[in-house]
Amino acid sequence: MAEVREAEDRKRNPVIQVKNLYKVYRVGETKVYALNGVDFTMYKGEFCAIVGTSGSGKSTLLNMLAGLEKPTKGEILISGKHIEKMREDQLVAFRRERVGFIFQSYNLLGTMNAIENVALPLSFQGIGKKERLKAAEKYLKLVGLSHVGDHMPNQMSGGQQQRVGIARALVVNPKIIFADEPTGNLDSKTTMEVLKLMQRIVREQQQTLVMVTHDDHLASYADRIFHIIDGKIVKIEENHHSDESIFGEGGAEKQEQISDREDKR
Ligand SMILES: Nc1ncnc2c1ncn2[C@@H]1O[C@H](COP(=O)(O)OP(=O)(O)OP(=O)(O)O)[C@@H](O)[C@H]1O
Ligand SMILES: [Mg+2]
Repeated sequence: MAEVREAEDRKRNPVIQVKNLYKVYRVGETKVYALNGVDFTMYKGEFCAIVGTSGSGKSTLLNMLAGLEKPTKGEILISGKHIEKMREDQLVAFRRERVGFIFQSYNLLGTMNAIENVALPLSFQGIGKKERLKAAEKYLKLVGLSHVGDHMPNQMSGGQQQRVGIARALVVNPKIIFADEPTGNLDSKTTMEVLKLMQRIVREQQQTLVMVTHDDHLASYADRIFHIIDGKIVKIEENHHSDESIFGEGGAEKQEQISDREDKR
């Protein structure tokens, strides 16, 4: 009963609304319909996966939602605001304040250590150094990496670098986190740890996580799965995983284990 009510509450808070969205690329004489009439709503506290084969339009969709590219036609509302109508400077502010990105290739700055990498987005918000580093330490702790704060990216494992990338995406407390194949460079065990970590944090902080993947198994961790084929959302699947699968294995104890294991190295 409580779960039903929780799900209904969530649905009263739309965060992303997409209406009749098209993206058409012109390549020479031909037109590519990368997005071919897409409609959906994503809600606060939801983990949404966008699944489809290579070339189906996943990255194009993510780029539109993040305001990185303009749609050919259609509407995108983020927290009720039309981002397709925003000027570039408004979009920059929107991304800086509302959005976190997690990339497949981590995209950490090689000349900065873990803490400095996590703190970086805050410097664009004009937050002072002391406060930045304090926040960065908090988020590094959240992803179980307090002990590698002074490591440079090349002194960390792939999974550790990706967790630094997650902490960096979360440090500005964004409403929405976009992740494009976030575990693409990780082994299967680390992939599970990273996925469960993202799932837990987003739930606890009531954010909206939009993850793009071509992997059905990874998508099964999401609350809803959006299937995309040739630029069209062909199916939206509700995923009724029990709280056990969300918090049981992937909860706080698990994170402790991750930290412990690494502290003992
Ligand atoms: N800048 C562009 N110019 C022309 N066509 C493009 C451009 N970007 C993407 N496309 C085309 O749009 C379609 C969707 O591409 P997109 O990158 O969104 O796919 P994807 O689902 O992310 O694939 P992948 O899993 O390989 O990353 C493809 O047919 C692609 O060739
Ligand atoms: Mg892609």
